[in-house]
Amino acid sequence: MAEFLVTGGAGFIGSNLVDALLAAGHGVRVLDNLSMGKRSNLPLDNPRLRFIEGDVADAEVVAQAVAGCAGVAHLAAVASVQASVDDPVSTHQSNFIGTLNVCEAMRQHGVRRVVYASSAAIYGNNGEGVAIDEATAKAPLTPYASDKLAGEHYLDFYRRQHGLEPAVFRFFNIFGPRQDPSSPYSGVISIFTQRAQQGLPISVFGDGEQTRDFFYVGDLVMLLMQGLLSEQVVSDPLNVGWSQAVSLNQLLAEIGVLCGGLPPVTHLPARAGDIRHSRADNARLQAHYHMPEQTPLREGLRQLLGV
Ligand code: NAD
Ligand code: UD1
Repeated sequence: MAEFLVTGGAGFIGSNLVDALLAAGHGVRVLDNLSMGKRSNLPLDNPRLRFIEGDVADAEVVAQAVAGCAGVAHLAAVASVQASVDDPVSTHQSNFIGTLNVCEAMRQHGVRRVVYASSAAIYGNNGEGVAIDEATAKAPLTPYASDKLAGEHYLDFYRRQHGLEPAVFRFFNIFGPRQDPSSPYSGVISIFTQRAQQGLPISVFGDGEQTRDFFYVGDLVMLLMQGLLSEQVVSDPLNVGWSQAVSLNQLLAEIGVLCGGLPPVTHLPARAGDIRHSRADNARLQAHYHMPEQTPLREGLRQLLGV
């Protein structure tokens, strides 16, 4: 039985991937420091799952977790862009040093395949208003984006020098069950759906006409599985989005339909540095991966809301 390591596996995307790996009969190790992740996201009673509470910034812990595994999904990071703006030094430990530790541990232990969670944030405001392809000039505007882009470069170095096989995905806006809504910087869908269900007022930063390319976590997991398990992977980074722009106002209308109405919606000034329009060109992803059937936004929201 092949055993895979999922760093950040107690978090939103990671725990959904863990479920899929276990369902496919694999063994899974999770390395997570529980800064955002939760034990309750994991089926801890499954004998094929081993949970290691530890930090990816600790090289020794990472080396132990990597030794003997068949491949790594490296998802551990502080996912909030704003957290990196507030505390670049500490988030750099998780978001960059963690990635370097994973690369080095894989080199030491001869593990080759790694799936890496990069981000559309590396494009900054470039490509705004058009579908962003992978060749779009990189313009990381925050420590979060700089760390993600640096991680891509290091993975490429370890590929050329040491034979690592990175599958690099630049996620656009992922949503779905287990995305934690508890911080003001959590993903917008997790915040809006929770507040709509609880009847609490909703704040929109700006006029609500900004757009995002929302991608359901269940669909993402099918791509991550291919990245981990397929015979060969393309080493070039690939955008993960549906190339569909949805405005926050459209999103709210959908949530209103599913919840039978909305609580009061207030408009506040736009967030500094907020990207106005973000939409992926996914032609390269389509060329190299078997695309899942798209879970429509309304269906994904239904799953999330349990309606
Ligand atoms: P999340 O916060 O739910 O998951 C991240 C997990 O990593 C958490 O369980 C957290 O406890 C863990 N973690 C953080 N720092 C750690 C450390 N130093 N050592 C060990 N564990 C640590 O967020 P998510 O949305 O599931 O994000 C998963 C990955 O995808 C992250 O790398 C994030 O940057 C990336 N990403 C997410 C999105 C999105 O829309 N959600 C978009 C682009 C990229
Ligand atoms: C998201 C991800 C980031 C990823 C990027 C890639 C999260 C928390 N952030 O950033 O990790 O790298 O996509 O595309 O998952 N908004 C409101 N009201 C709210 C909350 C948000 O109006 O209460 C607005 C924001 O100002 C923004 C939009 O909603 O215009 C989306 O915000 P958010 O969900 O935080 O995502 P991104 O900033 O796009």
